[in-house]
Amino acid sequence: MRPDSHSPIGVFDSGVGGLTVLKSLMSQLPGESTLYLGDTARVPYGTKSGEVVTRYSLKNAAFLLERGIKVLVVACNTASAVALPALAAALPVPVVGVIAPGARAALRRTRGGQVGVIGTPGTIRSGAYQRELEAAAGPAGVRVKARACPLFVPLAEEGWLTGDVPRLVAREYLGEFVRGGVDTLVLGCTHYPLLKDIIAEVVGPQVVLVDSAEATAEVVAGLLEERGLLAPAGRAPFHHFFVTDVPERFVEVGERFLGRRIPSAEQVDLTF
Ligand code: DGL
Repeated sequence: MRPDSHSPIGVFDSGVGGLTVLKSLMSQLPGESTLYLGDTARVPYGTKSGEVVTRYSLKNAAFLLERGIKVLVVACNTASAVALPALAAALPVPVVGVIAPGARAALRRTRGGQVGVIGTPGTIRSGAYQRELEAAAGPAGVRVKARACPLFVPLAEEGWLTGDVPRLVAREYLGEFVRGGVDTLVLGCTHYPLLKDIIAEVVGPQVVLVDSAEATAEVVAGLLEERGLLAPAGRAPFHHFFVTDVPERFVEVGERFLGRRIPSAEQVDLTF
């Protein structure tokens, strides 16, 4: 089946985190249908090797492609950091990751060219944000300071978003950014937008926070428009959710990430 403007947007992540990207897509492109796959059986990706994350990502993409998507959004920073070239080479539809949109948004916002990046160990270790920021900055240059903040992921999943525990963790992770004079901080992990308030409190009002999710949705909107693939008006969009482990926890935690009800999620097996 050849995808056309009526086809859904495919989105995948290691689990619930990519729902922050889906939320931005749904709000910027309310007429679009979406298929979301959360690889909840194999989460987390952030602590795994690039080779393994690439293998999982190709499986996720193949699953969504079979269901006729018109564009693939890699709504996971770790998968975007390590698997984007392999995905782009393997897929016959456009592939959008979250790293380039986030990096470009940071460069638009920075005043002094001092950009901080936080993400999973896999994302930071890959150097993908650092490379993208430097390439996009060109001769103007940019100073990048990057740090993995792995404890933010379980805090966001537990819904532990305010109070002493996340504040203490954020102070420990982010102190060096405050002292180092960073003026813009990229939230380079799908879970971090949930902790935006506590991160903002710790780094202070002089630091601009950049959410890759919003920037990615803008890129997807531009791409669909450019290629004449925007869903025609007048048809109610559908939103389907797939998971690779039992759906209960995904639905419960996911509603917090998505900010709306998830009526159901279908469990699928990608280990074939
Ligand atoms: N979705 C992942 C990311 O944005 C975070 C969760 C995980 O480690 O799988 O990097």
